[in-house]
Amino acid sequence: MRRLLVTGGAGFIGSNFVHFVLENTDDTITVLDKMTYAGNRASLAGLPADRFRFIEGDICNAELVGQLFSEHDAVVHYAAESHNDNSLTGPAPFVETNIIGTFTLLEAARKSGIRYHHVSTDEVYGDLELDDPARFTENTPYNPSSPYSSTKAGSDLLVRAWVRSFGVQATISNCSNNYGPRQHVEKFIPRQITNLIDGIHPRLYGDGLNVRDWIHADDHSSAVLRILDGGRIGETYLIGADGEKTNREVIELILEAMGESPDAYDLVNDRPGHDRRYAIDWSKLRDELGWSPRYSDFSSGIADTVRWYKENEEWWRPQKAATERKYAETGQ
Ligand code: NAD
Ligand code: DAU
Repeated sequence: MRRLLVTGGAGFIGSNFVHFVLENTDDTITVLDKMTYAGNRASLAGLPADRFRFIEGDICNAELVGQLFSEHDAVVHYAAESHNDNSLTGPAPFVETNIIGTFTLLEAARKSGIRYHHVSTDEVYGDLELDDPARFTENTPYNPSSPYSSTKAGSDLLVRAWVRSFGVQATISNCSNNYGPRQHVEKFIPRQITNLIDGIHPRLYGDGLNVRDWIHADDHSSAVLRILDGGRIGETYLIGADGEKTNREVIELILEAMGESPDAYDLVNDRPGHDRRYAIDWSKLRDELGWSPRYSDFSSGIADTVRWYKENEEWWRPQKAATERKYAETGQ
């Protein structure tokens, strides 16, 4: 049994990780979350009180972080400002949380010596051309495009330096696009599902041909747990599930799952600096740690996700109108 501290555990992937760990291990979990617009306490409802504790607080608060690190065996760091579109209209909180927040955690890890796992993104590698056979590997040079991805890249580099200079017991993972339950309605898949529930056409940026490499959030969680248990200190592991799809293909699957015509979508303004394609080579994780994804059928994963949003309207409804007002300002 391990005492785990999970930052950002009220967000999409963090909350899925909390559920996954409580269901699959004997570990106890403390979530530290600032409860920004992206945090949702309902995502952590019904968890066992003897194994789960929630603390509302900021990862930039060194005193609170130091106290919590002294009470735990390991930290898994998910807390972040996570949305590219927001980083284009207001980058300041991205620098604060993603860089200063990570720095604050690393300093606490240095003092306490606890195991630290850093959750990051494939976006640190920039993008690939549509016709490029290459995929990102752990050796691809960093080349981030947006304020979001550049702050995530900065945080990864801090981790590498704290390992080498101070011996912090850290690993890093860089994962591709996640889908599944409890994702904020600002993100691509939930936005389109909830638009359709509201009778609005899905919105595709630009020509809709950008490619993302989709993975189910539970597969991300099982990979992070595997790295926490067996990953080599100082190493980076890429996480993916061979899920490359154009945004149009994803929309068509959502439209099919919701009984709509396949061309019932609108093309809208493109995202400035929009990365064209992401693709992950996850063979290191497979070969070194024996991990593989469990969700291989994307269309049934999408159908399950559609069902979740239909059945959990009280979870997402409070955020929907404000999210769409913000998109209206950029013509998206
Ligand atoms: P999210 O926006 O859904 O959740 C982020 C959580 O962090 C929220 O609960 C928020 O309240 C909390 N938070 C924000 N600032 C904080 C602060 N200063 N102190 C404490 N808590 C704070 O994000 P997500 O999509 O779940 O992403 C989680 C992590 O996974 C991020 O680090 C992101 O970079 C990474 N990641 C996400 C994806 C993806 O597809 N969503 C893919 C790869 C990696
Ligand atoms: O690759 C991992 C990253 O995936 C994570 O690091 C980020 O935290 C996560 O938000 C996600 O980033 P993206 O920018 O790829 O995700 P998003 O859901 O915002 O958009 C997915 C694709 O869909 C992207 O090409 C933009 C496009 N899009 C998005 C929205 C919201 C649309 O075409 N229409 C939309 O309405």
